Order: sequence, then structure tokens, then C-alpha cells
Amino acid sequence: MRNRQIVLKAYPEGMPKESDFSLVEGEAPAPKEGEVLVRTVYLSLDPYMRGRMTQRRSYSPPWKLGAVCEGGTVGQVVASKDKAFAEGDFVTGMGGWQDFSIGTRADLRKLDPKLAPISTAVGVLGMPGHTAYAGVVKMAELKPGETLFVSAASGAVGGLVGQIAKLKGARAVGVAGSDEKCDFVVKELGFDACFNHRGDLAAGFAEHCPKGIDVDFENVGGDVFWNAFARMNLHGRVIICGFISAYNDQAPPPGPDRSGAILGGALVNRLTIRGLLVYDHRHSFDEFQREMASWIKSGKIKYREDVVEGLENAVTAFQGLLVGKNFGKMLVRVSADPTR
Ligand SMILES: NC(=O)c1ccc[n+]([C@@H]2O[C@H](COP(=O)([O-])OP(=O)(O)OC[C@H]3O[C@@H](n4cnc5c(N)ncnc54)[C@H](OP(=O)(O)O)[C@@H]3O)[C@@H](O)[C@H]2O)c1
Repeated sequence: MRNRQIVLKAYPEGMPKESDFSLVEGEAPAPKEGEVLVRTVYLSLDPYMRGRMTQRRSYSPPWKLGAVCEGGTVGQVVASKDKAFAEGDFVTGMGGWQDFSIGTRADLRKLDPKLAPISTAVGVLGMPGHTAYAGVVKMAELKPGETLFVSAASGAVGGLVGQIAKLKGARAVGVAGSDEKCDFVVKELGFDACFNHRGDLAAGFAEHCPKGIDVDFENVGGDVFWNAFARMNLHGRVIICGFISAYNDQAPPPGPDRSGAILGGALVNRLTIRGLLVYDHRHSFDEFQREMASWIKSGKIKYREDVVEGLENAVTAFQGLLVGKNFGKMLVRVSADPTR
């Protein structure tokens, strides 16, 4: 069996280019004792990957040049040398940007396709869903009647953040990058309001957050962040989940030093500003899965996926994710999904 892999050739400067990657082909590896060979069905594309393509200090090391790009996957076991897995089992793990990968019981989790569509294991029932859950349920100290603001509100994390906030009795306000996305966020996901961040931000915040913001679930950074930060209420909480608007930056944007604004705002309003890293919340993964699965089953939580066909289109899809071309959780269908 032939195995196509996308490997990182160069650390991108700014927006990743096709030439920063190469598609190589070789034989699929054979599993050794205790291992299984998995055919990738879905590859998850996530913004954090941009951080792994740089040599800046972060919470995990950069990807190695010449190595297959890493990534969460859903796949099907095609050969097994571990009695815990049978041929045909569906699993999720970190298979990477390739057709086939080797896994072990230490790094694979079996999926039951009768319980949920298998793709959800890297979306609403996986890392992005857990991120939203951890941020809102475990960190935000959100109270009924408070206003939660979230950026990238139609995305994998943001769409869930606002819905969980609503379930907790709060007001959910979001921004998204198009009127169509905003319509979806309000009409389908049930947020109280969503406005287009490509329009007049100050006017949008004034209209939709008239009582200020108690929790800013920050996904984007930049002007969206500064406008939200200016409206934070006394004892507000800022959950820093991400700042995608700056992931391709090579240097800080020019302009005056804004440390006074952030320190002053935090001091005057006695804000709590906390970084969120989903992997710090491993202990709540089972609880999250149980609760999220029951919310989905009862129709309280909705989600949307954006599926691109073919491993060869992964780089283009990833470039699109960084500028908002995706509409929902970004996935690449690497091979046919036998459950659909
Ligand atoms: N800390 C953690 O453990 C953790 C875990 C998962 C994700 N995250 C972070 O959570 C955020 C959302 O991730 P996701 O997986 O849910 O991705 P996503 O929201 O599905 O996709 C990314 C979205 O970001 C928005 N965006 C991109 N550039 C922007 C800009 N300059 N200004 C405003 N919006 C912009 C786009 O939406 P629009 O079209 O609406 O602009 C795009 O669709 C990211 O910052 C990610 O790094 C953090």
C-alpha cells in the first residue's frame, strides 16, 4: 500500500506557502507486535499547527523539518498486532498528514460509530469541543445573566463557547467574518447577537454589548480584542484561548506601546486574565464527553463541519483556515468514510 505524506520543508515566513511543504510517497509501514496500522479517514486542521511551524518558544516544540506534519486524525484499523484492536475498528489519535499511520494502545482511542459520527472525535467531541468546555465551564466562572463575548464565533471552538454560555444562563455575543456566518451563529446556534468583524467594530460592540462584557473568550486578538477589552466590566474574566490574527506575524505590529492600556484596564476593573491550554484539562475529558454527547443528543448543542476532499488539498485548506475561509470545524477527508 502506498502512503502519501505531507512533510514540512521550511518554517514559513508569514502565511504558509505551498513550497513550505512537500508531498512525498512511500510504502505504508507494517505494524510490529503491539502496533496497528491505521488508514486515515479524517485529518483535523487546527490553528495551533501554525505555531508548531515556527521556532518561537511555545507550550510544545516546533515540528521537525523533513518530518510528516502532525495532526489529530480519525481512521480505521487495517492491520492489527494488538488483540485490543481488530481490523475495521475506528480509532482517533495523532496520525498526522498522511494516508496511513502506526499507532499503539497508548496513543489511540477506539470510537463507536453508533454513538456519534466518527468525524466528531476531532471536533465537537474532541479537542476543540473540550477547549470550549474547559474555558466556559471550568475557567470562566460565568454566572446567569452575565455577558460572554467570543471571537471566531462560527468556528469549531467559538460556536460551542457561545452555546455552552447560553446553557449556563448567560448572554452570548460573537463576531464572525461574514454576514452569512453571523446569521448562522444567531439563527442556528442561538447566540443573542453576532456581528461582522470586517465592519465597524466599535459600533458593533456598542450595540450588542450595551452592559459591557463579563467574560471575553479570546480566540483572535488584534482590533477585536482591543474593542472587547475596552468594554470589560468590573471583575471580568479574559480567557485567552488563542490570537489567530497574529499567528502569521513576523514582528509586533508598529504603533505605540499598549502595555499601559492592558495593565490599566486590568487594574482598574480588577480583571482576571488566564491562559487556556486544553491539555491542562485532561482530567475533565470524560466528564466533557458525557456532557457534550448528551447536549448534542437533546439538540441543545449544534455544530458544523467544513470538509475538504483529499490529502493533496490540505495545505490550501490550512491557508484558508488562517484567514476565515472555513465555515465550521475544518477537516480533510483523506479517504472514504465507510460509516457515511
Ligand atoms: N488554547 C487551546 O488549548 C486551544 C485549543 C483549540 C483552539 N484554540 C484557539 O482557538 C481559536 C479558534 O480555533 P478553532 O479551531 O475553533 O478555529 P476556527 O474558529 O474554526 O477557525 C479559525 C477562524 O478564525 C477566524 N480568524 C482568522 N483570522 C482572523 C482575523 N484576523 N480576525 C478575526 N478572525 C479571524 C476565522 O473566522 P472568521 O471568518 O469569523 O473571521 C477563522 O474561520 C484559535 O485561536 C485557536 O488557536 C486554542
